[in-house]
Amino acid sequence: MTKNKLGYDHTSYKGIHKLPLPIQKLVKRANKQTKHSYAPYSNFYVGAALLLSNGKIIGGSNQENASYPLCICAERVALYTYGASAAKHYIKAMAISADYPTKPLTVPCMPCGACRQVIEEYETRQQRPINLYVTALNIPNIIKIKGIGTILPSAFQQDHLL
Ligand code: THU
Repeated sequence: MTKNKLGYDHTSYKGIHKLPLPIQKLVKRANKQTKHSYAPYSNFYVGAALLLSNGKIIGGSNQENASYPLCICAERVALYTYGASAAKHYIKAMAISADYPTKPLTVPCMPCGACRQVIEEYETRQQRPINLYVTALNIPNIIKIKGIGTILPSAFQQDHLL
């Protein structure tokens, strides 16, 4: 028997300025998307933004409901908006941000397990990784993760069904 510590590869940035300009724009958009969150129950405002291969950006924000299980995360709102728009261009990167005024965040807000699974499906569909840039509003830290497999290893995939 062996005990192992699980971690994941990532790059930490102490500010937006070391990132390429299109990614800076993407992270700013994710920050802005927190303002379009509808989260009267959790007061946890999440924003997501997708950078497409043609340079277009698609945004998403979490949308809550009085029937709590109907709440949907910002990441999935962005991905399903992309999916429903019949976009011809693939997704290069996704930025995620969050604002929690009740207890201001001090670390980047990582995507939940359900959203990781959905990101994985879109990667498989386009046969290309989606790089993630994860941050939170009003903190300088940004974490870059190369592809969802880094934080969702051994994922359940469509070929398990065939
Ligand atoms: N939420 C997201 O939008 N993305 C995540 O990855 C984690 C959680 C939302 C769902 C809910 O509206 C609120 O944050 C609190 O869980």
